[in-house]
Amino acid sequence: MEHELQSLEREARQELAAITANSQLEEFRIRFLGRKGQFSTILRKLGSVSDEDRPRLGQLANTIKKEIEQLFEHRQEAIRQTASTAVDTEARLDLSLPGRVAEIGRLHPVTQIMQEICTIFENLGFSVAEGPDVEQDYYNFEALNIPAHHPARDMHDTFYVSDSILLRTHTSPMQARIMETRQPPLRVIAPGKVYRCDSDITHTPMFHQVEGFLVDKQVSFADLKGVLTVFTQKMFERDLPLRFRPSFFPFTEPSAEVDIACVICGGEGCRVCKKSGWLEILGSGMIDPEVFRMVGYDPEVYSGFAFGLGVERIAMLKYGIDDIRLYYENDQRFLSQF
Ligand code: FA5
Repeated sequence: MEHELQSLEREARQELAAITANSQLEEFRIRFLGRKGQFSTILRKLGSVSDEDRPRLGQLANTIKKEIEQLFEHRQEAIRQTASTAVDTEARLDLSLPGRVAEIGRLHPVTQIMQEICTIFENLGFSVAEGPDVEQDYYNFEALNIPAHHPARDMHDTFYVSDSILLRTHTSPMQARIMETRQPPLRVIAPGKVYRCDSDITHTPMFHQVEGFLVDKQVSFADLKGVLTVFTQKMFERDLPLRFRPSFFPFTEPSAEVDIACVICGGEGCRVCKKSGWLEILGSGMIDPEVFRMVGYDPEVYSGFAFGLGVERIAMLKYGIDDIRLYYENDQRFLSQF
């Protein structure tokens, strides 16, 4: 019987070590430790052994049974832990999920429009020049026939840095900067940021302009109209009605503001075009002889036109945006559409 007990112990230990699932554990328990299991069967045989051997064999059988019961519990705990780790790992790691796509940056819509505008004019033979945002009062006003105390300064809502230094209020200072260093014929555009103390649905304190000017002999207003008409056709990829409205700029004579039919309302009248059906996109005119004199050109020999267009306004019309401030609120939901 002692022999039988020892071989049962070996068998039980081996089987337990190989168990990996709960169903196998239960099977083991019934077969070895259950009421009709192998240990009980052996214990029942104790009645038939001699009185002398019975206590020793009884004690041995109980010790082995207790050991196997303990091993069984350990195995049960190990299987429970393995199962819960597996559940955790499975919950954390879902291999069927799509991978994370890296966010790719893109150009700001105003930059995109700015580049488009520059490309159109470059294709018309204009070269590109850039100048400083922090400008001298001289180039921003004086050289453009706007002396100190001239009422036209009022329209510019200027941010002054000091008495003679300011944040440029338009890109027109580039006319004087280029002309004083180069001789005609000239065909130049000057894109850049400009600043005015101004804010509503069609105005922001910082915005972009593209200045354009052409100086040569016998340049006429018809040339200006031709260039701007080609520009709007290319920019909006269709024939949009343009309106040249007489205006005043001290550095051009005659001067005109150019309006484009409001693409938001189709000319019906809306809050963007202030019910007029038109939206102003640029100021323009024939360069004033006084500006030529300031840079040393002979106005009897040379003539030229100039224009300054608002880039955000073009972007609003192109994309049908009815509030210019959206461009500068940095809302990714808005910006990522472009
Ligand atoms: C000027 O700035 C002139 N320098 C344009 C010019 C150049 C005239 C050369 C003649 C010859 P004006 O202030 O109208 O003009 O501005 C030009 C354009 O900038 C406007 O038509 C408008 O489209 C845009 N603009 C003006 N103010 C703002 C603003 N606060 N926010 C956004 N766009 C503006």
